[in-house]
Amino acid sequence: MIEFHNVTKIYSSNGTKALDNVTLSIAKGEFVFIVGASGAGKSTFLKLIMHEESPTKGSIIVNDMHLEKLKRRKVPYLRRTMGIVFQDFRLISKMTVYENVAFAMRCIGKKNATIKKRVPYILELVGLKDKANDHPSELSGGEQQRVALARALVNNPSLIIADEPTGNVDPEMSFEIMQLLSEINKRGTTVLVVTHEHNLVENFSKRCIKIDDGRVISDTGVAPEMVAI
Ligand SMILES: Nc1ncnc2c1ncn2[C@@H]1O[C@H](COP(=O)(O)OP(=O)(O)OP(=O)(O)O)[C@@H](O)[C@H]1O
Ligand SMILES: [Mg+2]
Repeated sequence: MIEFHNVTKIYSSNGTKALDNVTLSIAKGEFVFIVGASGAGKSTFLKLIMHEESPTKGSIIVNDMHLEKLKRRKVPYLRRTMGIVFQDFRLISKMTVYENVAFAMRCIGKKNATIKKRVPYILELVGLKDKANDHPSELSGGEQQRVALARALVNNPSLIIADEPTGNVDPEMSFEIMQLLSEINKRGTTVLVVTHEHNLVENFSKRCIKIDDGRVISDTGVAPEMVAI
């Protein structure tokens, strides 16, 4: 599903080498934690997968699409296969919680009747049913994070990319969010999660890729249950 071949990313504005010769692959249906210190290159890794940034060297394949050959007009097709939780949420401040989530469905042409059924279901799933009519500015950081998660889940993507989805929530909620992602993964969705929380990584015993200074310094490999299949 995701392949990196000798990928290096140097940001041209300041010459920072954010990723250094990374080669790895992630199979369909895996659950992968990405860990590493601040500035290690975790968000850069995710941004390359979603084609928000392009590699300086090397090649990336996502869902059989060679990203270096991907035409600009095809990028929306790539993104449609992904549900993305950004580290900075990127919610639309003028829209309510309900509208933020519904908007993601409207963008891909879902019918109103489908939206009316699906959005309340997803808001309930992330524990935000009572906040449907609030605007992002009226929410706590953790609540905003859960709106971002709801928006990522609503279109049933084949890949979920979550950059610190538990960065602003208490330990109990962060465990619940991870459990939710784990459930979604069990139904076949590939999940990539950046996290700083070591206890979560230990609790969930999934594949864990550790990045340090742009390099993959450890990778527990494919999770045992994947090998058995
Ligand atoms: N748009 C950018 N332009 C220039 N340099 C950047 C840009 N984005 C990130 N960097 C640099 O690239 C390196 C990796 O950044 P990245 O955001 O991938 O780290 P991270 O592992 O996600 O860190 P954090 O845990 O703090 O979110 C850092 O040195 C950072 O300063
Ligand atoms: Mg980051």
